[in-house]
Parts: sequence; C-alpha cells; structure tokens
Amino acid sequence: MPGLFILAEGGGSGGNAPMVILVGALAAFAIAYFVVGPGRRRRGPRRIGDIPLSMRPYHSDEELETTGMERAMAWGVALAVFSSLFLPLYWLIEPGRINQRVDEFYQQDVQAGRALFSEACASCHGENLGGGSAPHPNQEIDAPWPAPSLDNIVARYQDVEVVDDVAEFIYDTIEKGRAGTPMPAFGVGEGGQYSDAQLNAIRAYILAVQTGELDQVDGQAFEGASGEDIFGANCARCHGQGGEGYVGPQLLNFFERYGAVDGDADSFEQARAVARDTIVNGRLVPGKAPMPPFGRVLSDDAIEAVIDHIESYQETGGPRYGQIGGDPSPAAEDDN
Ligand code: HEC
Ligand code: HEC
Repeated sequence: MPGLFILAEGGGSGGNAPMVILVGALAAFAIAYFVVGPGRRRRGPRRIGDIPLSMRPYHSDEELETTGMERAMAWGVALAVFSSLFLPLYWLIEPGRINQRVDEFYQQDVQAGRALFSEACASCHGENLGGGSAPHPNQEIDAPWPAPSLDNIVARYQDVEVVDDVAEFIYDTIEKGRAGTPMPAFGVGEGGQYSDAQLNAIRAYILAVQTGELDQVDGQAFEGASGEDIFGANCARCHGQGGEGYVGPQLLNFFERYGAVDGDADSFEQARAVARDTIVNGRLVPGKAPMPPFGRVLSDDAIEAVIDHIESYQETGGPRYGQIGGDPSPAAEDDN
C-alpha cells in the first residue's frame, strides 16, 4: 500500500487524477468485497485451541463445493474489478501527469534562468536580450565589442552549416566563453561560477524567449564611409587596428597568403574573392570566436572599400600564416 500512496501523492499539484482513480477503485473493491465477496458474512469453522492444524475440523465437502467455491470466485471478481478499473485508468492518465511534471520542471528552469541572466548577462546582452556591447579587453583598442542579441540566436544560426545544434552551441558558448573576446566562461569547469544545472537553466530561458526574427539591419549604414573607418568600426576589434591580428588572424600579408603575385591582376582578384566571401558569410571555426557574417550589415560598396583598405597595407615576405587566436594581452601582441 505505501507504494500506492506515493503514487497518489505524486499527483500533488500535477492534478489529483491518480488519487481519484485510486479512491474510486478502492471503493469499487470494497463494495465487491462486502456485497458479493468474502466480507459478506462470516462462515467457516471457529479456531480451536491446541489441536494441530492438520487435525482441525474444516468445511464439509458439500460446503467446499458450494459456498467455499463461491467465495473464492467472489475474490476473483473483486480483484478483477479492482484491476480492470485502476490499471487501465492509471495507464491512460499517467503519461499526461508525467508531461505536466516535465512542463513544471521546465518552467522552473526558465524562471531560474531568467534570474541568472539578469544577474550575469544582461549588462552586456541587454535586459531583454536585445544585444549591447562591452569594452575591448585590450584597452589600447578603442572599438566597443558588440554583444549579439540573444532573443533571435536560433534564427541567426539556423542555416549556418557548422552549427548543427544551436542549443548545444549556446550551451558551449556560455560554458566556455570566447577567449580573447569580452564573453566570459561561466562553467565551473572553465573557471566560471555556474553549475551544469544553472547553465541549462540559462539556456532554457534563452530558448524560451526566441522571437524567431532577424535584426532589422541597415545595409546602407556604412555607405560612403572610408574603408579605414569601416574596418575600424567592424573589423579592428578582432583583426587589430592595423590588421596585425588578435582573435582573428593578421591580415598584413593576406593577399600573399592567398597567392596574389605582383603584376598578376587575376591573382589579386582571386584573393579579393576569398576576402569578399569571408566578409559576406563569416567563418565559424568550432571552439573559436567566429568571424560574423557582414552580408546584411555592409553594402557591396562598403565591402569593396574595406577590401581596398586591407589591400592598401599588404606586406610581402611577412609571416606566412594567419596566427589565428592571437594572445589578447598587448605585451604578447608586441612580440608578433
Ligand atoms: C562582459 C560582457 C558579457 C557578459 C557579461 C556576457 N556576455 Fe555573452 N557575449 C559577449 C560578447 C562581446 C559576445 C560576442 C563575442 C564574439 O564577438 O564572438 C558574446 C557572445 C555570446 C553568445 C554567442 C552569440 C552569438 O551570436 O554567437 C552567447 C550565446 C552568449 N554570449 C551568452 C551569454 C550569457 C548567457 C551570458 C550570461 C551568463 C553572457 N553571454 C554574458 C559579452 C558578454
Ligand atoms: C568577432 C571577431 C571578428 C570580426 C569582428 C571580424 N573578423 Fe574576420 N576573422 C575572424 C576570425 C576568427 C577569422 C578566421 C577564421 C578561420 O579560422 O578561418 C577571420 C577571418 C577573416 C579573413 C580571412 C583571413 C584568412 O587568412 O583566411 C578575412 C579577410 C577577414 N576575416 C576580414 C574581416 C573583415 C574585413 C572584418 C570586418 C568587416 C572582419 N574580418 C571582422 C574574426 C573576426
């Protein structure tokens, strides 16, 4: 019986259905027991003192074949009534009850996540997840670092090939942060302060408030600005003011890296095409700060102007590789 009471209690705020079924089934059982079953009246021999069990008088054959048999059959009916009522109804209602509990746990997560978000994330990403900004970790670089809007992160990454599970991508980003950017790591295992359960709650909250709409961006915002200004406002935070590299690779010999050779106009055009493609679509390397896509932020003219700017400071015979993920400290940058 204790097991059944636990089931009944489990109903708690999740609805009293199992309790009602249980009481109903028990009532049906009691009626069956007392009206037609063995509880109807007392029959059979009295207990007799010290006579060993095997020697005691018992029912007569006649009684065993009539009332005795009826009694056994009545028990059967009573138990059959009980299980035919209780078990199917329980089976019908239990999944709904479980779903309701799961919903409740989820709502609790979302609530907890909301509180954690406003405590730890809102200062950069905005109280309503609409996005914001943070100062550059390198104080010498005077370009504020945009903290993306998070109320549409699912829509933003839906068609990005390297991210096949946005929910996991969100969790990983919160847990590990993005080295070199202002986005801190929050997982305890990564030096942060939040447990897996708390990270899950924050993610549940973010996923619960998705608008599904992409930001309205002004594709003409940088129309007419110089390539240098466009680079300063959009690229310098990751690639350095002069293209010397930071969390993004250095771009000082970008053209050389992609096979541009002096006097060969085609080879320059090919390198520009790589740059254009990267700028329009962004590039996501799992586990690293991604290069965001600028296709919706910069007009075609602005993109050409920024590539002109990159081309203007090219060096040859420079470092061969991009030095992706440079050390954020200014001292280390000087060594590059
Ligand atoms: C100090 C500012 C700051 C705080 C605090 C902060 N973030 Fe961020 N976050 C950023 C910045 C800046 C980026 C963008 C990094 C980049 O350019 O790759 C970012 C990126 C992200 C991304 C990836 C967005 C994308 O579009 O790729 C997620 C998800 C995220 N943050 C969630 C959180 C959550 C959740 C919290 C709180 C637990 C939090 N952040 C706290 C600054 C912050
Ligand atoms: C949030 C950081 C970030 C911002 C902002 C950013 N980039 Fe990048 N960029 C990267 C990273 C990281 C890579 C390298 C990805 C990889 O590993 O392939 C990259 C790669 C590139 C490349 C290709 C380099 C190569 O060697 O293949 C070009 C060109 C480039 N970025 C130009 C730009 C321009 C122009 C802007 C501004 C309009 C910009 N980036 C803004 C992070 C950034």
